Amino acid sequence: MKLIVANFKMNLLIKDIHNYLEVIEQKLNKDQVIFCPNNLHIKYFSEKNYLVGSQDISFQEYGAITGDTSINQLKEVGITYTINGHSERRQYFLDNKYINKKVKLALSKQIKIILCIGENLKAFEENNTFSVLKDQIDNALKDNLNYINETNLIIAYEPIWSIGTGKIPTNSCLEKTILNIKTYLKETYNLNLKVLYGGSVNLENIDSLQEVSEIDGYLVGSLSLDPNKFLTLINKINN
Ligand code: 13P
Repeated sequence: MKLIVANFKMNLLIKDIHNYLEVIEQKLNKDQVIFCPNNLHIKYFSEKNYLVGSQDISFQEYGAITGDTSINQLKEVGITYTINGHSERRQYFLDNKYINKKVKLALSKQIKIILCIGENLKAFEENNTFSVLKDQIDNALKDNLNYINETNLIIAYEPIWSIGTGKIPTNSCLEKTILNIKTYLKETYNLNLKVLYGGSVNLENIDSLQEVSEIDGYLVGSLSLDPNKFLTLINKINN
């Protein structure tokens, strides 16, 4: 079964969430899909026993960090996962030091991590994809190996140039990159981790993406905002 993660980013209002929950009611496998809505909407999903993740956590457990939300506050409203290192967070708010701290904090609190990695267009065009990914993995895992196992860390490969652009790597490129990621994790860290693909996943390209055998699931942005389209996508993935 492929894992499917919905990242709503900064979209939707409470009324949309209520409508969304009505549309999806009884229509999906609750062990297969993880919803990552805005923090204000997490409880609406967790109340109905959906798997829920936050889009980020504060790097600090508690204290004076204006504007952040702590892992304990997020756990209280029902998350069991958190996204860490999404490229939009890396771009505006984070450096690798915080991503590394967040891995340790989340795992020590029994929150599973969806770790996003991905190269920008320049690195892709200059054939530097793998060295970028390797650095991102090393930075996140450094000193955290005692906490990590094969069920609490999932990698999401999201090329930055694919996010929201409609452009995705070719199947052979994806097959190779994801295999490289898995081989590196196995050989360097002795970890067999699931690797999701994210970036412009839609109803037009999903059949083709499904031919990439190394993909263990998907991290879906804009398409997941429409519950009917999202259900159609899930059906296509499962058939
Ligand atoms: P899109 O599916 O909108 O390209 O977003 C991908 C993404 O960033 C998911 O985390």
